[in-house]
Amino acid sequence: MCGIMGYLGGRDTVEVLLEGLRRLEYRGYDSAGVAVLVDGKVEVVKAKGKISVLAEVLKKGKPEGSVGIGHTRWATHGPPSTKNAHPHPDCEGHIAVVHNGIVENYLELREKLQAEGHTFRSETDTETLAHLFEKYYDGNLEKAVRRGLKDVKGSYAVVAVSDRDPGVLVAARQYSPLIVGLGEKTGENFVASDPSAILPFTRKAYLIDNGEMVVLTKDRVEVKTLAGKAVKKRVFHIEWDAEMAEKGGHKHFMIKEILEQPHALRQTIGERISGRGPELHLEELHLTDAYLRRVKKIVIIACGTASYAGMAGQYAVEKLCGVPVIVDVASELQYRECVFDKDTLGIAISQSGETADTLQAMRMARRRGAKLLAVTNVIGSTVARDADGVLYIHAGPEIGVASTKAYTSQVLAMLLFCVHLGVVRGAIKPAAARRLLRGIKRLPDQAQEFLDGQAGHVERLAKKYKNVMRYLYLGRGAHYCTAMEGALKIKEIAYLDAEGYAAGEMKHGPLALVTDEVAIMSAVIEGPHYQKSIGNLQEIRARAGKVIAVANEGDEEIQKYADDVIRIPKTEEALSSVLAGIPMQLYAYHVADLWDREIDQPRNLAKSVTVE
Ligand code: F6R
Repeated sequence: MCGIMGYLGGRDTVEVLLEGLRRLEYRGYDSAGVAVLVDGKVEVVKAKGKISVLAEVLKKGKPEGSVGIGHTRWATHGPPSTKNAHPHPDCEGHIAVVHNGIVENYLELREKLQAEGHTFRSETDTETLAHLFEKYYDGNLEKAVRRGLKDVKGSYAVVAVSDRDPGVLVAARQYSPLIVGLGEKTGENFVASDPSAILPFTRKAYLIDNGEMVVLTKDRVEVKTLAGKAVKKRVFHIEWDAEMAEKGGHKHFMIKEILEQPHALRQTIGERISGRGPELHLEELHLTDAYLRRVKKIVIIACGTASYAGMAGQYAVEKLCGVPVIVDVASELQYRECVFDKDTLGIAISQSGETADTLQAMRMARRRGAKLLAVTNVIGSTVARDADGVLYIHAGPEIGVASTKAYTSQVLAMLLFCVHLGVVRGAIKPAAARRLLRGIKRLPDQAQEFLDGQAGHVERLAKKYKNVMRYLYLGRGAHYCTAMEGALKIKEIAYLDAEGYAAGEMKHGPLALVTDEVAIMSAVIEGPHYQKSIGNLQEIRARAGKVIAVANEGDEEIQKYADDVIRIPKTEEALSSVLAGIPMQLYAYHVADLWDREIDQPRNLAKSVTVE
């Protein structure tokens, strides 16, 4: 949460910062600000609200200079307000800082600094950083930052500017993401929370690791450890281009990303399935066959949507490979004293690769001896770097806060992993593997077929049910995850009451919720659980609930038990969770749009959750 950006160079500094912040806005959007060095003075402009509000304020008086920092906030300490917006200056206004993370010992530091005479103006934890750097400043910003950070417990990606060190930015990282953009033309450099911010300007970067700091001028970038030892970095080339992170004529990023799914799924498959067999190549996992044969348990580490993708993987791996799989949200996993050992494989699933809960649970798994595989979208992200092997989903930048294409690509990546594991362990016979791989290869076209044939129908259904305020989402087996993900989507973007349940659980309580005012969205996909799912629909209709079923093409039976049906193409049951997620997203999108919600930036949320 929170996005930070810094720039030194010859362009219009404020415009560069605003452009970068707009691209980081998915990380937080309750207030924003910039600080620019103008004629030897740090000038700060802040506003409550989105970047567009800040941009309006800046139109009335834009600080002109060649060095600046900016921030877009997701409030943790202190409510959204202009006062609590970053950048935060020290007492005299010589230094200003932007920060993403949490200073855990900020109360203790604040009291101490206040006792030493520092005056605080905000309620944020971040302001302590500005005063700490001020306290230790003796003519060199780099030294002050290094010394100040020694007192800090918690997480940070921080950038500081000082009017007594003109032409320099100092940045540091501990647990929150940070990237340096190396100017394509000489005489400029960038620093930001993630690659999307620097994409319009450069695709050459340094990935900054935990415990590192960076001193930037317009012509030089020095990376050091927090202790001051020089670090040699490799230049990292960002594959995404700026256009991929644009709306491309769509009303929202979310709908663009929903419609992009056939392409994203094709990218996830990439060259991994090839030949006439076909065969699967997953050498990139860096997990030897001997190790995969030895694995006794898999623990999936993920949050929110990514954890539901994990549930799809759990179902497939248990069914097809016979390996026990645990899925729990990463924020809880840490408290469960979950048993990890050398024969446990932890699989961390994370679109952003920066989710603090996921990273924390990975660290715990590592300490207890597990090996770690990352399934992530962002190349070079912390999740990828902290794991032994990585399966990139290659879904392209996902900007809408509600995850869509990353979800289906994560499910698909888990299916690829499942086939690989099953083949290596002899649990999936070669003929079955070929059949599954052919099925997986068809998924992108089937996703397109669904979108071409059913998107209009889903939009009409959203209109028909627009006034329904309460939903239950149901699914069994491979579609328990579909129910959970469907409910999450409509909750987070349409702000409607929705619960996801394993369909079999209805009679253990939730059936009491069913009235004629409740709509039930149920994934009733052909497979071993079909008849039982039909049974659930009968129980619901007997209680006047309205049923929208997501069912296979050609299933005539379902008409008798549902008020409306959305059709998805037929595929193997274990693979169908990829396709069944798409109608759920599309329905939630249209309902939210009818309610005129802020779809790409729902209230109170942020895309990359870098606080625990
Ligand atoms: C919901 C959503 C979130 C994320 C969760 C984990 O639409 O996007 O639930 O899935 O915050 O994020 P990542 O995958 O970046 O670790």
